[in-house]
Amino acid sequence: MRKPIIAGNWKLFKNALEAIELVTILKREFCDVEGVDIVVCPVFVVLRDVYECLMESNIGVGAQDLYWEDSGAFTGEVSAPLIKDAGAQYVIIGHSERRQFFGETNQTVNKKIKAALKHNLTPIICVGEVLAEREAGQTMDVLKKQCEESLAGLTNEEMVKCVIAYEPVWAIGTGKTATPAQAEEAHKYIRGLLVKQFSEDVGQSVRIQYGGSVKPDNIKELMAQPDVDGALVGGASLKSDSFSAIVKGAIPA
Ligand code: PGA
Repeated sequence: MRKPIIAGNWKLFKNALEAIELVTILKREFCDVEGVDIVVCPVFVVLRDVYECLMESNIGVGAQDLYWEDSGAFTGEVSAPLIKDAGAQYVIIGHSERRQFFGETNQTVNKKIKAALKHNLTPIICVGEVLAEREAGQTMDVLKKQCEESLAGLTNEEMVKCVIAYEPVWAIGTGKTATPAQAEEAHKYIRGLLVKQFSEDVGQSVRIQYGGSVKPDNIKELMAQPDVDGALVGGASLKSDSFSAIVKGAIPA
């Protein structure tokens, strides 16, 4: 049984005060929640504040990116040891916004995954097709290339520590969710790729989140799909009531 994992990707929202306000409510909301891993991913500069507020809670903290070198003359970058030191246990890698606006490629994603694993951070690795690729019938080819290149050179032991987020880019922030059937088709395909690239065991163990306009009213039907193991939530993770409803909707029956 794969334990569901719901992660909130706060993107470039919430200053320290707003972040503390939100997690103070979430901490109370989730104190009795079991059976699902819960993560919030604030901006770098409020990681430590959020971590300190969430100590002795069942909510983990993640960063939204990292740089693959530990230290050096890399102005503006933040490394795995630094986010770890700030309290992160998770890190989102290869989000489509980073691919689209900041030149992220499968090759840089690969280096970042290895850096995260080296420092015992759990990578949440994002893959997904853009609308034109879906309409051209290229979704599975895109996913195959993203998985093969991003996950190249990982051992089976490393791969099982990772989480994958399937995020169709056309569904991110658009209010257009993939149908449960579209999500399941992609998740099942990704699991098959993991079986081929690693092993049956790895394929069956890795958790695959769905991301893209996840809301309280669609989480249950997404989670009902056999290969959907959770969600990476953007917009709806910024408010306590919607994030709370999503987490509660993901608790296994
Ligand atoms: P959304 O974002 O839930 O606002 O669509 C998801 C994401 O970008 O991870």
